[in-house]
Amino acid sequence: MIGAGSSGIAACQVLDARGIAFDCFEKGSEVGGNWRYENDNGMSSAYRSLHINTSRGLMAYATYPMPEDYPDYPNHFQIAAYFDDYVDRFGLREKIRFRTEVVSVEPAPEGRWDVTVADRDGRRETNRYRAVLVANGHHWDPRWPGPPFPGAEGFAGEQMHAHHYREPDVLEGKRVLVLGIGNSATDIAVESSRIADKTFLAMRRGAYVLPKHLGGKPTDEAASALLTRLPLSVQRFFLSRLLGLAFGEMTSYGLPEPDHKLFEAHPTVSAELLSRLGHGDIEVKPNIANFPGGRTVRFTDGSEEEVDLVVCCTGYKITFPFFDPSLISAEDNRLPLYHRVVSVEHPGLFFIGLIQSLGAIMPIAEAQSEWVAGLLEGRGELPSAAKMRAEIAAAERKMRKRYVASKRHTIQVDFHPYLREIRRERKRTAQRA
Ligand SMILES: Cc1cc2nc3c(=O)[nH]c(=O)nc-3n(C[C@H](O)[C@H](O)[C@H](O)COP(=O)(O)OP(=O)(O)OC[C@H]3O[C@@H](n4cnc5c(N)ncnc54)[C@H](O)[C@@H]3O)c2cc1C
Ligand SMILES: NC(=O)c1ccc[n+]([C@@H]2O[C@H](COP(=O)([O-])OP(=O)(O)OC[C@H]3O[C@@H](n4cnc5c(N)ncnc54)[C@H](OP(=O)(O)O)[C@@H]3O)[C@@H](O)[C@H]2O)c1
Repeated sequence: MIGAGSSGIAACQVLDARGIAFDCFEKGSEVGGNWRYENDNGMSSAYRSLHINTSRGLMAYATYPMPEDYPDYPNHFQIAAYFDDYVDRFGLREKIRFRTEVVSVEPAPEGRWDVTVADRDGRRETNRYRAVLVANGHHWDPRWPGPPFPGAEGFAGEQMHAHHYREPDVLEGKRVLVLGIGNSATDIAVESSRIADKTFLAMRRGAYVLPKHLGGKPTDEAASALLTRLPLSVQRFFLSRLLGLAFGEMTSYGLPEPDHKLFEAHPTVSAELLSRLGHGDIEVKPNIANFPGGRTVRFTDGSEEEVDLVVCCTGYKITFPFFDPSLISAEDNRLPLYHRVVSVEHPGLFFIGLIQSLGAIMPIAEAQSEWVAGLLEGRGELPSAAKMRAEIAAAERKMRKRYVASKRHTIQVDFHPYLREIRRERKRTAQRA
């Protein structure tokens, strides 16, 4: 097991409960990955004010609910505490080797895998395994705008990526330009609007900004398992009507008209963005065209602004530093996997939590681990490689058809339908045996 973030610990719990022997290596000193603020693994993208944007009901593991006294959207300290309780409740902590980085994973004879780890003193050790579960996270390697905007290297102001953003003091008194309209961009723009001298929010396309609550309930509760059995067009119809009644058109707030339908992009969730826009504390801009010199930023509509700090909230790359890139790499964030878990080309490699969900990742990582555990126990069989490749191709076609073409939409799944898909596949796996 590579990593003891929320995906890795879910897999540890499942394997341990089934009595499957495993080693889990974690680069940092604690569990929780991204949710450990200032994690000493150097990989967390959490900022001081971060709260979850998938409600606690949806995010909790099936085997361990979140505390009743938690709010609908807890902060990252509470989420990290929940992961601590989870590993302690299941006695997993002593089964994880902390401060130990997996530095290489290589194919070995007879379908095995040689895994080399290094501790912080540089001591290395290689062990052979019949399977490797990869749970190294996919929101830690910043994706900067590419290709860079012309003149970016000569910009006299500062440029930072959302991954490095922690506290709002870096925004104070400055003219700040936030780039993107994903969840990092909206959170940082909202924070900036309260403390910066001026906040611009630039984007290359519009988005539907979803509220955190609808009718007093977390918005994602509205998309219950039952409702998601309805065709997408029907779900879209109802949610659009509700949003229309509550908030009207996005253009009323100065945002561009989205160039896609609802559910065709990863959701942007913010309880505050529309209000900050409505108060005039954030000015919307189209994409950056170039940096003509000094602190000037030129936008694609020809307008120009003086800016002290550009915060690029332009997403993350999927990266596996421990694989030889000729073996596994996710060029443009693409990595074909059977049901987003199983490597067809490299039997014995499984990927846990490598999805972008319209919903939370944690219960999905748990369900994926149950499926993999069954396979490891020999209680089932995968279909032929040809069948798996055909399924992957069909799933990719479906995703390309549904989502806006973007490197952020390569591993999308719908929460409830995907959980049902994994459950079905577990059954089929068992039947094949
Ligand atoms: C700002 C932000 C907010 C988010 N909010 C939500 C949300 O509200 N809801 C939601 O469902 N998702 C959210 N996400 C998505 C996020 O990816 C998941 O919440 C979650 O962190 C995924 O867990 P993970 O275990 O897969 O990855 P991570 O949390 O990234 O954990 C990976 C772990 O693997 C370890 N590791 C990595 N490489 C190695 C190695 N070579 N050797 C050993 N250990 C290694 C790391 O140290 C880390 O502990 C958010 C992401 C970001 C960036
Ligand atoms: N809990 C929370 O509140 C919270 C907070 C932050 C992040 N998150 C999660 O963390 C993950 C990453 O979110 P993110 O917002 O950092 O990244 P993201 O979802 O990948 O969004 C990136 C944004 O940058 C834009 N972009 C990318 N390249 C660009 C370019 N060259 N020029 C202009 N715009 C560009 C994208 O536009 P296109 O759509 O056109 O590609 C998109 O608007 C998501 O799963 C998100 O839900 C959650």
